[in-house]
Amino acid sequence: MMWHASPFVLGSSGRAHLKVQGLSAGYGAFLVLRDVTLEIKPGLTVILGPNGAGKTTLLKALSGLIPRGGEALLNGDTLPKKTSDIVKRGMALVPEGRQLFPQMTVTENLELGGWLVGKAERARRLEQAFSDFPKLRERAQQLAGTMSGGEQQMVAVARAMMSAPRLLMLDEPSLGLAPRMVDELLAITRRIADAGTTVLMVEQNVKKALAVADRGYVLERGTLVASGPAALLARSTVIREAYLGAAPVQTVSSQTVRAEPVEALRQAQGERIL
Ligand SMILES: Nc1ncnc2c1ncn2[C@@H]1O[C@H](COP(=O)(O)OP(=O)(O)OP(=O)(O)O)[C@@H](O)[C@H]1O
Ligand SMILES: [Mg+2]
Repeated sequence: MMWHASPFVLGSSGRAHLKVQGLSAGYGAFLVLRDVTLEIKPGLTVILGPNGAGKTTLLKALSGLIPRGGEALLNGDTLPKKTSDIVKRGMALVPEGRQLFPQMTVTENLELGGWLVGKAERARRLEQAFSDFPKLRERAQQLAGTMSGGEQQMVAVARAMMSAPRLLMLDEPSLGLAPRMVDELLAITRRIADAGTTVLMVEQNVKKALAVADRGYVLERGTLVASGPAALLARSTVIREAYLGAAPVQTVSSQTVRAEPVEALRQAQGERIL
């Protein structure tokens, strides 16, 4: 019945939903991504894959930092090509390696994330950032370059949130961090997704990323090789052998043991494993 369905529809229609069809991207004549088709639904989606697979290239292409081919629709509207227009449509990127301004304070770095809005709104968002990331309030006047790796990553995430994005993209937020800090950052990304910002995260920390994500894609040599609900991917023999260092088959016939999880993925509604 309409009255029953409408609150859910209203609730989800405001959330960013990105559909990418036949995307290609690369550097000059060197094509890295070929025919990538994926759907970033509200919630937390993780992109997994080995070094050099094209994960960063994918985020760069979606942010307009490099040209892309194919179709990309954000909530049904064609995604613009220029980075500034993409930012205006509500997409923000936390790049690989943070890229903070080391000689500027935490506050100054955060304010740069709110460059699109007026002074009053920027001040309101800064206050919000400090309440979302209480550790940063204590460090408001510290030079970003003197902070620890984990603290800097938090500044980078908080800076991206200053643009009040509808879709937040993060490139390996946990890179080089101690295990506790990794957990804290992944918990933050989960909270951001739960609060209504769609999150697309590239991660090498496969097990932990799949534990917080809703869905995942696996990229290898520029093409998607698997996708599905995070819980199913975490259990899949393919993923476990390739990324989690799980012992291959123990007893019985290897065929039977290997076939099962793949079949489970195939059956998952609307998802696929190639
Ligand atoms: N600016 C560039 N110019 C030319 N080739 C590039 C450039 N940046 C990346 N590449 C190449 O594109 C391919 C994909 O790189 P990309 O950085 O997207 O991989 P990745 O999946 O993010 O890897 P990692 O896990 O190591 O970060 C690699 O072969 C890389 O050498
Ligand atoms: Mg990368």
